[in-house]
Amino acid sequence: MAEIKKVGVCGLGLMGSGIAQVAATSGFDVVAVEAVQGALDKGVAGIKKSLDRFVEKGTFDAQARDAALGRLKSSTNVDDLKGCDLVIEAIVENAAAKKELFAKLDALLAPHAIICSNTSSLSVIEMAAATKRPKQVAGLHFFNPVPIMKLVEVVKTIETDQATIDALFAFAKKLGKVAVLAQDTPGFIVNRLLVPYLLYAIRVYEQGLASKEDIDEGMKLGCGYPMGPLTLLDYVGLDTTYYIAEIMFEEFKDPMFAAPPLLKRMVLAGHHGRKSGKGFYDYA
Ligand code: NAI
Repeated sequence: MAEIKKVGVCGLGLMGSGIAQVAATSGFDVVAVEAVQGALDKGVAGIKKSLDRFVEKGTFDAQARDAALGRLKSSTNVDDLKGCDLVIEAIVENAAAKKELFAKLDALLAPHAIICSNTSSLSVIEMAAATKRPKQVAGLHFFNPVPIMKLVEVVKTIETDQATIDALFAFAKKLGKVAVLAQDTPGFIVNRLLVPYLLYAIRVYEQGLASKEDIDEGMKLGCGYPMGPLTLLDYVGLDTTYYIAEIMFEEFKDPMFAAPPLLKRMVLAGHHGRKSGKGFYDYA
């Protein structure tokens, strides 16, 4: 397996821009590709702003920031990913869109290149099957905010070969992350455990066991968590949580993953959490 030197990132939204930023600050040449110019401009501006904040805080020096930005190229043409040793897909969470992109990348990239998806809930093998290199396809699941969160889940499908897994563990280490190995099942490790906990917190609140503030305070101080489950739900997004719960329930048919009625009603009402200004708490 050739050394990973040039990294492509597809989709420069919330996650893709974080991944592109960390890869560039870790010394990789990065090509970031977006579908639309407006989103590309927003993503690049977000990376600059984030790096400026690190410089202001003194955790990064201005020279290193400029060097990282110099290593980052951006484009709206997927063909510009040609020459990348690794491409990380972070586009919309839609299986058809991802499969179309994987087929395109497979035709474009050199035979040694690895293709990864940052999907939270979709089946990685389904994307791998859209390529002629399923052994070199894996999940590489980062956590939001990418520049801060240490964990990366490396997701092995039933086809991924060991050389690819080894290369991805080495890559994660170069990014300053800690990698864990997960199987290609919905939720991988972290969401498989976290989602039932979050759903149960909604059930407990729905049943009137305690106020939302007391549920959050209880779990925060009682378990040493940085925030309570309802606050965390507002961060993650209630719509996103609902979507992931539905996929997990569909796969496992276990009531543990079934979305509580209150969650569904809140999503229908547009109470999606912080991003919509209202979730369990008000952010207006
Ligand atoms: P986002 O909506 O912020 O960004 C997606 C970007 O992809 C958009 O800017 C869109 O214009 C672009 N895009 C769509 N189709 C494209 C294409 N064919 N080529 C290039 N760009 C394209 O979404 P976000 O939150 O960054 O999520 C991206 C992926 O990461 C999803 O698969 C999601 O499940 C996963 N993920 C999200 C996390 C989160 O906390 N938001 C955490 C971990 C994974």
